[in-house]
Amino acid sequence: MNPLGSAQDPLWYKDAVIYELHVRTFADGNDDGTGDFRGLISKLDYLAELGVTCIWLLPFFPSPLRDDGYDIADYLNVNASYGALSDFREFLASAHERGMQVMIELVINHTSDQHPWFQRARQAPAGSVERDFYVWSDSIEKYRGVRIIFTDTEKSNWTWDDKAGAYYWHRFFSHQPDLNFDNPAVLDELLRVMHFWLEMGVDALRLDAIPYLVEREGTSCENVPETHDVIRRIRADVDATYANRMLLAEANQMPNEVRAYLGEGDECHMAFHFPLMPRLFMALRTENRRPLAEIMEQTPSIPDTCQWALFLRNHDELTLEMVSDDERDYMYLAYSADPRMRVNVGIRRRLAPLLENNRRRIELLNSMLLSFPGTPIIYYGDEIGMGDNIYLGDRHGVRTPMQWSGDRNGGFSRANPSRLSSPLIMDPLYGYEAVNVEAQRDDPSSLLNWMRQMIKLRRVFKVFGRGTIEFLAPSNPKIVAYVRQYEDERVLCVANLSRFAQPVSLDLPDLQGLTPIEMLGYVEFPKIGAGSYCLSLGPYGFFWFELH
Ligand code: NOJ
Repeated sequence: MNPLGSAQDPLWYKDAVIYELHVRTFADGNDDGTGDFRGLISKLDYLAELGVTCIWLLPFFPSPLRDDGYDIADYLNVNASYGALSDFREFLASAHERGMQVMIELVINHTSDQHPWFQRARQAPAGSVERDFYVWSDSIEKYRGVRIIFTDTEKSNWTWDDKAGAYYWHRFFSHQPDLNFDNPAVLDELLRVMHFWLEMGVDALRLDAIPYLVEREGTSCENVPETHDVIRRIRADVDATYANRMLLAEANQMPNEVRAYLGEGDECHMAFHFPLMPRLFMALRTENRRPLAEIMEQTPSIPDTCQWALFLRNHDELTLEMVSDDERDYMYLAYSADPRMRVNVGIRRRLAPLLENNRRRIELLNSMLLSFPGTPIIYYGDEIGMGDNIYLGDRHGVRTPMQWSGDRNGGFSRANPSRLSSPLIMDPLYGYEAVNVEAQRDDPSSLLNWMRQMIKLRRVFKVFGRGTIEFLAPSNPKIVAYVRQYEDERVLCVANLSRFAQPVSLDLPDLQGLTPIEMLGYVEFPKIGAGSYCLSLGPYGFFWFELH
């Protein structure tokens, strides 16, 4: 039993820098062509050097891998191609030794159709506890009008099962039946799963797809009150047994709906700020801060113990579900010229190609990721500017092996290249010979070293993870400016969304008499006086000023 977790501070997640990776594609320790825990353990020093404080692992459980592991067939084990449970334990201990926390997935909305619970349910008599582990219906008229999420593959949220002689409900792929939370035995089982991993010492759980837990007739079957009851029960169970653990809500919804998943500090500790992400890209492309200002205005305040999770890219498509029709059209036009770049309601591309490999744009968006209120999450490979492969199916194009060096298979594996579970990026611009850790490690001006430096800087100041934010409204709309404050730490951030140099004059009456020190070079700027404070910023330039 491990009630305490590895972190000392109960609010550790507020100061964290999270790194998202897939064991399958990170490093191959036994050279069979698939990444594994042994490989990952060998790369922990790299992550520690980068400044990462928490590792988020994508699902690593036994699974048919038809949704890259989000289709779980056994919650209590490790997929044999990634190693054994003992390897996971060793990974966990090794991460903890280096002062890093570990977050894993708790996928509770659905299982794989190969999970024994589903196989049992299909054969069990209608109305039995076993059958009712999932959501069944004789007719597809039930829950009519509920939107389909995987629009490219699914035509309905119901699929017929011959064995059961009934339709089963699924919000994602048809091979992922939704669990039925109206059956109390389901939550009991899932709590057992949760304890299994938390007792081992896992620090945090990402609650996948939680808006869809409970279905109710006449609603969108998203965010219904009964879903929040389930989450409160999960949280109460965590709090009753453990300390210093964290629950992160994956709810791709508008800010007020996402806010509900933090409750009164009695649901999740953190929630992804989904609506902010596409608007960062929109603001950059339109060279106008309006999309950011609007979404931040709509973002409600959150309980003191809670925190937003911020990200630029992840293992999924850049989702456009939570933007207006016009904004979606604009984003498709601006960021996915080739229709193959699109999947479902979004764009399947990595950060560097989205930003046309423009180093200044990449730095600008990362500077906002690291200075907006919340905890930043970096998607593996984006710290070296990895590319994607739009010719791979589903979202696999953004899930290719990590590029460690210019050697065979990018140093990811010594297997025969034909045996790799996923091909490496090989084009001349983003291929592993051009973009890799080894080359960037030795280059003081590489993106990798820039990221390392920025993460280090961020970690020195608590204000970034814990401070308040106040947006300024300079007359130049191409400039985003905000003041962060925590106790006696005060930071002024100014960013230029334009590809051209821009002037800005800031009204800073509350900061009069203070001296801004530019934080990257520790350069003193003129004192803030009674009038406007004037600055010039280069193309896509930004400043972080510590205020003395
Ligand atoms: C959310 C995950 O991020 C995504 O990758 C997955 O496909 C869906 N949940 C369904 O499991």
